[in-house]
Amino acid sequence: MKEYYTAKTVLITGGAQGIGLGMAQTFAQAGARVVLADKDAEAGAEALQRLSKQNLQAQYIPCDVASEEQVSALLRQVAEAYGQLDALVNNAGIADPFVGSLQEMEMAEFDRVLAVNLRGPLLCAKYALPLLQRAEHPAILNISSTRAFMSEPNTFPYSASKGGLEALTHSLAVSLTAERIRVNAIAPGWIEVGEWQKKSRRHTPQHAAHDKEQHPVGRVGMPEDIAEAALFLCSDKAGFITGQTLTIDGGMTVRMIYS
Ligand SMILES: NC(=O)c1ccc[n+]([C@@H]2O[C@H](COP(=O)([O-])OP(=O)(O)OC[C@H]3O[C@@H](n4cnc5c(N)ncnc54)[C@H](O)[C@@H]3O)[C@@H](O)[C@H]2O)c1
Repeated sequence: MKEYYTAKTVLITGGAQGIGLGMAQTFAQAGARVVLADKDAEAGAEALQRLSKQNLQAQYIPCDVASEEQVSALLRQVAEAYGQLDALVNNAGIADPFVGSLQEMEMAEFDRVLAVNLRGPLLCAKYALPLLQRAEHPAILNISSTRAFMSEPNTFPYSASKGGLEALTHSLAVSLTAERIRVNAIAPGWIEVGEWQKKSRRHTPQHAAHDKEQHPVGRVGMPEDIAEAALFLCSDKAGFITGQTLTIDGGMTVRMIYS
């Protein structure tokens, strides 16, 4: 992929930790100019250190994707620094899906999750549009979740936000044809991000045998599993793929369970 990504600019929201940082590392290894936008400045600084230890370069720009003012300022900075954007990866999200029961849940919590996980990607797409239009093979990639199509109890805002994000993916895909922008999503299943957090949150994952065995592939996912697919979906090699969601979950959602 080096051939494609050299001198390409990739903006990854929520790129300072977890799956976002995993993708940042993979895109940087492929030669891309990577911009990490994240609301956590401490994590942003640590992410740059981590990448530079591997001789990888990236730029960190603080941004809360729920704020229109901050998203607009983010894309202004990307424009000034790079002049165009080849790929926007909408990854920032409130990743903990659980809220209380329907009776206990505060509506403000529902609004907060929707503002980050659903409105955030739309805002980023809106402000990235003029920069994406300058690219030869522009792409948007939304990081959804298998919780868009299945649920554990008491995950209303998260599931709704990811279901909305999948609908937003096909809606953007058919709306941005004149701009030649392909729009796809990845729906990850269980991805272990413990070792990809800032130091104060980092932990070594302990997975029980059952955690692994319930996945048809026999293990929990890693950020690299998502990153490799992201690299492909944002490249010219995926030129005939748009409006799609790729599920990457080790087979969890196709396993039929009778109990
Ligand atoms: N880890 C999983 O198992 C899993 C599964 C399915 C989907 N996902 C999705 O993948 C994405 C990344 O999840 P993760 O597990 O890496 O989470 P994480 O918490 O490790 O990382 C999320 C990053 O997003 C940033 N962020 C959060 N809110 C933000 C905001 N308003 N503006 C800017 N940055 C913000 C955080 O600071 C953090 O650096 C999320 O969209 C999540 O819903 C994760």
